[in-house]
Amino acid sequence: MTTTLRTGPATFAFSAENKAKAEKAIAKYPAGKQASAVLALLDLAQRQSGGWLPHAALDYVATYLGMAPIRVYEVATFYSMFNLKPIGKHHVRVCTTTPCQLRGALDVLTACEQKLGVKLGETTADGQFTLGEVECLGACVNAPVVQVGDDYFEDVDGAAAGRLIDALKRGEWPKAGPQIDRQKSAPKGGPTTLKDQTT
Ligand code: FES
Repeated sequence: MTTTLRTGPATFAFSAENKAKAEKAIAKYPAGKQASAVLALLDLAQRQSGGWLPHAALDYVATYLGMAPIRVYEVATFYSMFNLKPIGKHHVRVCTTTPCQLRGALDVLTACEQKLGVKLGETTADGQFTLGEVECLGACVNAPVVQVGDDYFEDVDGAAAGRLIDALKRGEWPKAGPQIDRQKSAPKGGPTTLKDQTT
């Protein structure tokens, strides 16, 4: 598959705040191993750029870390957490890996498409939502999982996905985690073992 890097703004530079965060990330590694901070710096650059990585930001990170640009492009094109083209304000990503599919992820995806009026990979005309998919988020015990921003919404079905999108449209940020009566990753309905607290 060929990935095209969008050009975007001609220049990029970290804000003072992000520069301080970048220096903190680099300081975690031994001298001369600053390239190990590439994921952290790309994440900072993406957040500063409105959720995606313009070409100038990739080159800036490469220069900042003394890396060949191609090595930064390799990282940015490998990890799905990095977006190489502009996205909507809310990036709604449905996990479609097997455990989530077995628990109804494709129904969730269909519900999102119908609710937003876009297909997978598209952005709504108002620029508010981009609908994407993502590989296993490591939260399979509460599948299906939908990621929005930094949060996971778990135990989601089509109706719950619709409620989530409606809330985001209203400017609300629903409580992340299980969307059903489940405490974290405990069994539905409460504990089934070790219930006797007296011994
Ligand atoms: S398969 Fe969806 S979180 Fe693991």
